[in-house]
Amino acid sequence: MADNGNDAKQTLTIRDNRTGREYEVEIHEGDVIRAMDLRQIKVNEDDFGMMSYDPAFTNTVSTRSTITFIDGGKGILRYRGYPIEQLAERATFLEVAYLLLKGELPTESELESFVRDVTLHTYVHENIRTVLDGFRYDAHAMGMLISAVAALSTFYPEGKQIRDPEVRWEQIVRLVAKMPTLAAFAYRHHRGLPVVYPENELSYTANFLNMLFRIGGKGYRPNPVLERALEVLFILHADHEQNCSATAMRVVGSSEADPYSGLAAAMAALYGPLHGGANEAVLRMLQRIGSVENVPAFLERVKAKEERLMGFGHRVYKAYDPRASIIKRTADQVFEVTGRNPLLDIALELERIALEEEYFVSRNLYPNVDFYSGLIYQAMGFPVEMFPVLFAIPRTVGWLAQWQEMLEDPEQKIARPRQVYVGADQRDFVPIEQRG
Ligand code: SDX
Repeated sequence: MADNGNDAKQTLTIRDNRTGREYEVEIHEGDVIRAMDLRQIKVNEDDFGMMSYDPAFTNTVSTRSTITFIDGGKGILRYRGYPIEQLAERATFLEVAYLLLKGELPTESELESFVRDVTLHTYVHENIRTVLDGFRYDAHAMGMLISAVAALSTFYPEGKQIRDPEVRWEQIVRLVAKMPTLAAFAYRHHRGLPVVYPENELSYTANFLNMLFRIGGKGYRPNPVLERALEVLFILHADHEQNCSATAMRVVGSSEADPYSGLAAAMAALYGPLHGGANEAVLRMLQRIGSVENVPAFLERVKAKEERLMGFGHRVYKAYDPRASIIKRTADQVFEVTGRNPLLDIALELERIALEEEYFVSRNLYPNVDFYSGLIYQAMGFPVEMFPVLFAIPRTVGWLAQWQEMLEDPEQKIARPRQVYVGADQRDFVPIEQRG
């Protein structure tokens, strides 16, 4: 927020030249005015009053939040004040989940209790498997997961008691616990393999990898490097303040819908290729480019607006996405185990050229969280259809933290924006024989 550092009045003086009247509007938090303070600006007393037009909410503050802080110009990302670099280096995913949901890092006993609660809720009702069995073998995993999460709302009708903090917390634990199980079940359906059930003695990410990749008898243990790499990726994807899908979660939750239905809406928003679906789109783009030699021609098509450089650009970051830097380092560790992903060379060449060409530099187009993550996922054995799912699992924590904060915010109520009507004036119905 802007800080002028002096004791000038923290107000705007707005002069309406239609009437010559002047209005004093208070400035909050350094550079924010309340949109409702504009409504006093009228020509006639019975006018509705002034509004602000902001398609896609590019300059609209929808909430005051204490969860995640981003400085897009400096490439800073903090969860509850803790730098993402420190959390990725030193925390576990469930430790970060507790931090985002509760606001503080857990003590040892708090973390043990949270991990135990999550562990004891990893199973899903067997009928959910029937829901998943109804999909074609080649159904996209994200479409299956969205459906399964919405279906969960029918198994936990008490989730509708969204004003009861204890009931809310129980649904939050259930969703954090069950997302990996649902995702793994969708993957196994896709592969035509029998499901593998959760194993309580494994960590959150090891259990997920076990449910995904174990074939045959017991004794599967994921490579610790891959287990830690997935933990880091989950931490990096856990929350990102008021992005498209978090906004969907808040808007749906504002009608007091249950968290399962809200999460399905948030996942649907994440699924789009401009948002969390970008990691899948990046891989497909790299495969389409095919070789380092084809990169210059591809970038020429991007500059001609015939292609979009997926995994680049961001509404908030006008510098390198700090998550992309960490993912790039993590990729090197993963490739030591899995072997180098040959598509990495194409990605590095795209980045090298994009970071020095005026077209991209002038538009602040840097790699974002989705540019390198898919290379890791593919090297770990995930099909591209699972990439958005791997984003949704950790982001479940962020969506639930944002949902909870919205419900506890006395200023929030059902979301209902306004519009400027520019359609037809009143006209009379025309019988069909007289049309055309
Ligand atoms: C995520 O919001 C979040 O926090 C999201 C996220 C999270 O953690 O929740 O960080 C996760 O969604 C990351 C973004 C993943 N999406 C992609 O990688 C898809 C490709 N990137 C974009 O389509 C785009 O950059 C957005 C959607 C991410 C941001 O778009 P904006 O802010 O609306 O910017 P814009 O579309 O208005 O672009 C401004 C200019 C335009 O050029 P001009 O019209 O000025 O000539 O930049 C160009 C755009 O054409 N541009 C791109 C581009 N992104 C923007 N040109 C080519 N390739 C791109 N990727």
